[in-house]
Amino acid sequence: MDSRIATLAAAGAVAALVGLTAARAGGDKIAFPADYQKGVLYTIVDRADNKQYRELYVSPASAIAAAKNGEPLPHGTVLTLVQYRAVLDSAGNPTKNAEGRFSKGDLVGYAVMEKRAGWGAEYPPEIRNGEWEYQSFTPAKAVNDKANLTACFQCHKPLPGNQDFVFSYDKLKAHGM
Ligand code: HEC
Repeated sequence: MDSRIATLAAAGAVAALVGLTAARAGGDKIAFPADYQKGVLYTIVDRADNKQYRELYVSPASAIAAAKNGEPLPHGTVLTLVQYRAVLDSAGNPTKNAEGRFSKGDLVGYAVMEKRAGWGAEYPPEIRNGEWEYQSFTPAKAVNDKANLTACFQCHKPLPGNQDFVFSYDKLKAHGM
């Protein structure tokens, strides 16, 4: 290969790599929350639309106290939403347990949001969710490269300000502990 072409090709590869890194940088601040089960399982959601059973964990538990006071969640809060397929009957509908709830099937993945002091500053105001970052992990606990993290910001952003971008804020507030 002509050395000029080789240089151009190398420059292109670097540019592609930089673009990729920039796109992933925010979510990559979040490490897989290996200890999520040591946090508080504060609510369970049956999602009829996508036939999922979801467990929502928070750590540290002091985030619940903040929600009870109607405050934003503290720096260091990690919310882990564990997605499972609902167990289906022969007609393809989720089966219901004795409490009328879905049952836990195969693990689909993990959606995580984490808040730290100073995070989020690089986002334009129309995307930024305060100091929260988002990440999606596969059942093997690896980063899910196929996830569209911008969509996470876009869907959580319009929530009323007193919910701190958290859909289940009222469930945190109501959790008895
Ligand atoms: C189309 C809207 C939408 C998108 C996109 C979305 N979420 Fe959510 N998210 C929700 C809703 C609604 C809930 C409440 C729980 C439920 O219904 O499953 C939720 C709950 C959560 C929770 C539990 C805390 C809370 O806010 O209640 C986490 C963590 C979370 N999402 C992370 C993510 C991540 C990470 C992504 C992107 C990979 C993402 N979400 C994309 C709508 C969305």
